[in-house]
Amino acid sequence: HQAMEKQRAKTLGLIKPDGMKNMGKIVHAIYRSGFLINKMKIVQLSPADAKQFYSCHKGKPFYEKLCSFMSSGPICAMELVADDGIAKWRTLLGPTNTADAKAKAPNSLRAHFGTDGTMNACHGSDAPDTAAQELNFFFNSPRKCFSGRGGSTLCI
Ligand code: PPS
Repeated sequence: HQAMEKQRAKTLGLIKPDGMKNMGKIVHAIYRSGFLINKMKIVQLSPADAKQFYSCHKGKPFYEKLCSFMSSGPICAMELVADDGIAKWRTLLGPTNTADAKAKAPNSLRAHFGTDGTMNACHGSDAPDTAAQELNFFFNSPRKCFSGRGGSTLCI
């Protein structure tokens, strides 16, 4: 019997502003779970960048709050690669809301490092097309100049 092979897939992982104080622990958990971190960049989004990145949520009641939070400090963008990488990263993240994560997935990143529905430590793409789009946003926009603290570009 031939086992079903899970396809190697890339996804975007973000460590949100509230997760950055735990960046070391989060990166360690990512490696321990078997991901390759193929690209990594620390940036601070402008409010306009955040609105563009989250444009699919435009009009939802949390949109403004989410965009202002996501532009409030540095974040870490990663291209993560693993077998079935999109689903695997979402499993490691756990449910969006931290209380749910603690109840349903106590070993997940959001259970460990999240606070509530806004400050939930990390983000992950939800499907192959959004993963490609979101990776492109962070890693293939040569003319986009993300700003760091004090207005300078902060990229690693
Ligand atoms: S939806 O409507 O089902 O698509 O929303 P959901 O997947 O639950 O969440 C999408 C992203 O919005 C963030 N979110 C919030 N931010 C601020 N305040 C509130 N109340 C709120 N509710 C949801 C949530 O953290 C998700 O962020 P990402 O970065 O995509 O994980």
